[in-house]
Amino acid sequence: MLIAHISDPHVTTEGTFIRSVVDTPGRLIAAFETLRDLPRAPDVIVITGDLVNDATPAEYELLVECLGHAPAPIVAIPGNHDHPRRLRTALASINADLAPPPVDDPHESSHFAIDAWPIRLVALDSTRRGLESGEITADSAAWLDRTLAAAPDQPTIVLTHHTPYPTGAWWFDYQGVRGARLLRDVLARHPQVLRLIAGHVHRATQAQWGQLVLSTAGSTAFLSGTGVGGEGPPLLIDRSAAPTLLWWNDGLLVASEADPPGAAQRMDLRDLSPDWATYEASARANQPIVTDRDTRS
Ligand SMILES: [Fe+2]
Ligand SMILES: [Fe+2]
Repeated sequence: MLIAHISDPHVTTEGTFIRSVVDTPGRLIAAFETLRDLPRAPDVIVITGDLVNDATPAEYELLVECLGHAPAPIVAIPGNHDHPRRLRTALASINADLAPPPVDDPHESSHFAIDAWPIRLVALDSTRRGLESGEITADSAAWLDRTLAAAPDQPTIVLTHHTPYPTGAWWFDYQGVRGARLLRDVLARHPQVLRLIAGHVHRATQAQWGQLVLSTAGSTAFLSGTGVGGEGPPLLIDRSAAPTLLWWNDGLLVASEADPPGAAQRMDLRDLSPDWATYEASARANQPIVTDRDTRS
């Protein structure tokens, strides 16, 4: 199973300040084109929140247009820039089976799980009405605990928008997520969880809670400046992140980067090797590659 993880596309319409600086819909479509060009199509594209910037109906209409370019089914969760009900309606118009479930209060948390693939996806809504920062409530943690307990042998990835650990960029971190301790305690009880993936900080980061890896995908719209240890000016960088690929194969989850967007010169190993046939035969047979380069004398 191949999962592509992208985040924070911040799609917005003509006339907004963000759009005057960055073509965020174009950058989301460019990320989809990168994924379309992979040697193998992803089974699913996960988008961890902030799908639009100002949560207007017009932005969600534009988002649906952009998602029409996706080369695989989309699973997405709301971020602090999203209107949860409008996001759900947009996602349901594309694929109702993968959309967050309807809730009575548009700002009520909407958690959900998807059992469509060899890896179970469990989406935990970290947004709170009126807050830019994230929160895991006792109710959210209890839902997660119940949901994970229902499939203890199923390899699982948990999705949140907010990054539940401080990455060093204080202007997005807010010192992590309120209630992150509850989340950590629940995840420690469920070793089938392979990884927690998040967004919000607009940078690719990784952390570990014991055996559990947590990671973020950078934004397709614009990166955050680098914060280290809570220091650094609160910058946004005019660059789009490469999608993260999560390849589940034979009990191993390998994370890698797809191509960064934009043109790059390509060199073909077949043109560089003096004996490509031998090299290819050895590499495909998982055999050692012999070299005559003297590096040991
Ligand atoms: Fe964002
Ligand atoms: Fe966010």
